Order: sequence, then C-alpha cells, then structure tokens
Amino acid sequence: MTATEAPTAPPRLMVYWLRRLGDKLVLILYSRLFGLMLALFLCFPKQQRMSHNNGIGATGKLRIVDHPEFPAHEFFEPGKEFPVRIRHASATFLDDAMNCIRSLSIKLSDQQFKSPFDIEMNTGVTSLFWSAASFLKFASMRGEKYGVEYREYNRRYPDGLKGSMTAGRRHASSFHNLHYYCKTPFLFVGKDGLKRYAKYRVIPADSEVEIGKETDPSEWDQCNQRILPHETRGRNYLKYEYEDRVKRQGARYRMQIQTHPASEEEDPEVFNNMVVWDEDLYPWRDLGIMTIDKVLDWRESTLTTFSVNNMPKTLGVLPAHSIFDYNSLNYMRAHSEIARHARVLSYKVFGMVPPIPDNDNRNVSDWGQ
Ligand code: HEM
Repeated sequence: MTATEAPTAPPRLMVYWLRRLGDKLVLILYSRLFGLMLALFLCFPKQQRMSHNNGIGATGKLRIVDHPEFPAHEFFEPGKEFPVRIRHASATFLDDAMNCIRSLSIKLSDQQFKSPFDIEMNTGVTSLFWSAASFLKFASMRGEKYGVEYREYNRRYPDGLKGSMTAGRRHASSFHNLHYYCKTPFLFVGKDGLKRYAKYRVIPADSEVEIGKETDPSEWDQCNQRILPHETRGRNYLKYEYEDRVKRQGARYRMQIQTHPASEEEDPEVFNNMVVWDEDLYPWRDLGIMTIDKVLDWRESTLTTFSVNNMPKTLGVLPAHSIFDYNSLNYMRAHSEIARHARVLSYKVFGMVPPIPDNDNRNVSDWGQ
C-alpha cells in the first residue's frame, strides 16, 4: 500500500466489515423468517413437510469399508457398523407415477430423529437452486396447478430448469436403482487435521441400470409433472415395489464420499451445488455398504425426520456469510428446524395424517385434494 492510500484504509475496512455484518444479519433474518412461515402456514396447520411428503421408511445397517481410500476420519472407522434408518421419498406430489425428484435420506441410528449423522440426498448430480436467495425465488415461484409448476422460474432461470431435468425421474422402476446426491458440500476434518470439503452419494451396491431419466424433455414437459395419459401405475407403486423388494431380498446400497482439499484463497465455485467436482481429480471413494432388511409402517415412516444439524462437528455445515453465498443453502436448512418441530407437534394435536390412498385423485400434492 502506498502512503497516499494509507489514510483511507481504516474507513474502507470499517465499511467492509459493516457490509459483511449487514449481509449476515439479512441471512439470519431470512432463514429464521422462512422457517417460521413454514411452521405457521404449512407444517403445523397442513401437517406437511416442506417437500418430500410421499415416502417410505426402512431400517438396516451401514458397514464402513475395511480399507478406506478416503482420508482417515475418526467417525468413519474402518469396519465400524452403524444401525441405519432411511426414508425414500418423491418430491413433492402424493403420486408416485408423476415426474418427481426421488430421494434417499439416511440417519446412522434407528431412531425417529436422534442420530450422530444424517444425510439427505436427491436424484440428479446438480440442484435446482444455488443459494438462499435463489432458493427463496424457487419457493415463491412454484405456481403449482394440477401438477404443472415452476413455469416462470424455469423460464427465468435456465440453470434451475437444467437441474430439474437432471433430477426428475418419471419412469422410475424402483427407488433402489436410482443414484442419490447430497449436492451441497460439507466440512471434512480428518485425523490429519487438514480441512477438506465432502460430498456424499449413494448408488446400488451391485451394478444396476438407473431407470427413470427423461430423455431430452422440452421446457414444457419438465414443468408438466402430471401422470401420462393412460397411466397404469398406481399412486403408491414405488412404495409397494420397495416394500416387496425388501421383504423378498432386502436392499443393498453403496455409500460413497468425494473429498476436496480446502485452500486459503478458495474459489467460491467449489461450494456451488450446480457445479460437479471433477471426478478425475476428486474421485468417489467407497464409504460403506448399507443393507436394508425391514420397512417401516406409514406412521413410523412419517415420524422419521432428518437434519443437517445431526453431524459431528468435523463433518458439519460450512459457514455462510450472505444470502448469495452458496453455503447459505445449508445455513437455511440448519435454521429451519422449527418447521420440522411444528409438523411433529401437529400429529400430537390433530392426529397422524392418513396413508396416501390408492384412489383416482391423481396429480395432487395436498391431503385434502
Ligand atoms: C440441495 C439442497 C437440498 C437437498 C439435497 C435437500 C434434500 C431434502 C430431502 C431429501 C428431504 C426429505 C427428507 C425426508 O425424507 O424426510 C428434505 C426435506 C426438507 N428440506 Fe430440504 N434439501 C435441500 C435444500 C433445502 C433448503 C434450502 C431448505 C430451506 C429451509 C430445506 C428445507 C427442508 C425442510 C423444512 C424439509 C422437511 C423436514 C421435515 O419436516 O422433516 N431444504 N430436503
């Protein structure tokens, strides 16, 4: 810095820190308000999750691989076994035959909520939104009617449309053969103390073809998630298939991890969940094999919930500084717990929501419809 610049530095620094503080306050405010709105207007009165209401839970175990090729971590000790509870779901409609994003959420405990590690994953390598600001646009521009949604959002944000094309699975034959990605990166501080970032994914344990991807849908096709004309599959066909599969032969999955070293001068794109990390540089490594042997009934499946806050400190959510920060997506998730509490409380007050009926009310996302 030259002598002429020096006097201006302290005020500039102050402005910088004030801006940062302001940005953080806006993030805190938006996240808390969004959680509160969800709780007050959706989760408690309508007894719904924000998304993924249509699902099935199951239990089993995860065994960490004996010879890990990922950096050593005290939580993922080689050969260690965890009980697991999972939930497969379709977002957001109460009809398995619609073109939906499918999900797999895992908790490393057999409890409704308490767990040392949870991870929520959707189909598709990339996402439909990339920051809290983008997510709030996405949420406010849903514009759903009779199973058609996000027309305005997709038109205005082509990246969001691309993400939705990547993630939608209309012709899924089973929850089991799909590939699920956590999309947003998390912290990973292993035994060597080095800071890294981690992403997780789950694929079938033995090689199987992933069925259900749309081939080059038009923009309109992607917004139109309705069942096809003359659809023969029922509203619950995927959940029935999964139940039969688990009873008959169980389900085996391969959980994998991708780690990325942290750097002093980080390129923010590392955190962008619309950008796939180069698999040659940051290959997927086997984390463990998950075996599922029992499905849960509707009540227990509905009471099972997940959180990004259920993680050891060394594997948790990365800090975010503004609503435009890519890590603000996980910040929002971490600060929306009130929505989950409100939903669970609603079952105590009004009783459990009924299972999705096998009737002719197709293309709906609300119980009352
Ligand atoms: C790419 C990022 C995201 C992914 C991969 C993701 C994934 C998921 C999945 C798989 C579920 C269903 C879990 C289940 O089966 O119970 C879920 C539920 C939920 N997500 Fe997200 N989500 C993301 C972003 C967000 C954001 C930004 C928010 C904002 C607050 C959010 C809030 C919620 C809430 C409130 C629920 C319902 C929780 C409950 O009532 O149990 N998610 N998410």
